[in-house]
Amino acid sequence: MNTIAVIGLSWGDEGKGKIVDLLSEKADIVARYQGGTNAGHTVYYKGEPLPLHLIPSGIFNKKTICVIGNGCVVNLKSLYEEIILLEKEGVDIQGRLFISDRAHITFPFHIYEDKKIEEIKGSKKVGTTFKGVGPTYTDKYARTGIRVADLLHLDDLKTLIEFNLSTKKWMREKFNIKSILEECQPIVNKLKEYFIDTVLFLNSEIDKERKVLFEGAQGTLLDVDLGTYPYVTSSNPTIGGISTGTGVPSSKIKDVVGVAKAYATRIGEGPFPTVFERDFEDRFRKHAKEFGATTGRPRRCGWFDAVGIKYACMVNGVTSIAITKLDCLSGVDKIKVCVEYRTKDGKRVSSFPAYTKELSETIPIYEEFKGWKQDIRGIVKARLLPSEALDYLKGLEDILNVDITIISTGPNRKETIVKKEIW
Ligand code: IMP
Repeated sequence: MNTIAVIGLSWGDEGKGKIVDLLSEKADIVARYQGGTNAGHTVYYKGEPLPLHLIPSGIFNKKTICVIGNGCVVNLKSLYEEIILLEKEGVDIQGRLFISDRAHITFPFHIYEDKKIEEIKGSKKVGTTFKGVGPTYTDKYARTGIRVADLLHLDDLKTLIEFNLSTKKWMREKFNIKSILEECQPIVNKLKEYFIDTVLFLNSEIDKERKVLFEGAQGTLLDVDLGTYPYVTSSNPTIGGISTGTGVPSSKIKDVVGVAKAYATRIGEGPFPTVFERDFEDRFRKHAKEFGATTGRPRRCGWFDAVGIKYACMVNGVTSIAITKLDCLSGVDKIKVCVEYRTKDGKRVSSFPAYTKELSETIPIYEEFKGWKQDIRGIVKARLLPSEALDYLKGLEDILNVDITIISTGPNRKETIVKKEIW
């Protein structure tokens, strides 16, 4: 089997876009399996940052076919805008983009609902991206959702939207079904050539030994089942999400590349034990450009949390790790890695707690590494890294017990150390 999964090991924004872009040079197909426009992959194309939200980052490789799997949720308008943006940049997508006919649709009322629910939650809000992703999945599980296949049957579509909105009496008045249909119809006409049975397509391509890369959005600690619930997204970025979100059985997934930054970041609400001290965090955020690709919100920044990452390696069966943004740690005197947590009652724990309040009250126990002064941006050979950076990477490998095979030393595709080819 020639399949690789690329999965974020923390709270998203690990730099998966660049790793996918790099690995998809050799991929025949890149498939996304969950999430919607809440994701933001910034890929540097012709030297400029180009943020994508729904279309897989593999689209920049001319020969790669991109698939939006059944586990994703699709905002038609945003998808169409992304296609236009790519065409403007000269990226030819004809015959290279397929959207699952089983994927669920995010409508304007989902976006409204997302905002309203966050408002109602007040201080207990999740800090969502307001892209309507959570409410789309809620409808999917409530069995009132509307899927891509339904878009091609206008009369049925009207009935389905009516039924959906009839279950939300509190906001029913706000939406005019006729105008929703009028807005979506021209887009459907333009996009319908992309709608296919991706379950069949992916399985038969894998059986033909074609190289398929599964691109995770968000990250393990944002997984609705395995993450820091309720401060999570509404889908499964972890490995199980691939099977349900593409219809490809787990027995067909060979390698699992876990992606982690050389430090930690988190956007939105929820516990973040290794957060930096305020002053350092503010300076570091600017230096490392840690602002959300989807919302522009400042990301919280902190030290590498090996407790969380180890847990993520376990649940995903990670076979190798890609470390990103190592260059951003240049000039930091002492680099810390959290190896255990101390609980409120003084116990040392090395496993990731399920109880979110417990996680928010833990105090990290750190191992310290010496920093390096020199700018390492753009280094492409491991042997050219300062010895302190090599010690840091070796330390992470020892703690996590997984090999680091890719090290990113800058945002561009070329600014990467590949210690071992994965394909
Ligand atoms: P939602 O996915 O918009 O419902 O937001 C739920 C949580 O996931 C919030 O904390 C968001 O900030 C976070 N989130 C969603 N997508 C991403 C992402 O691509 N990167 C980082 N955080 C994300």
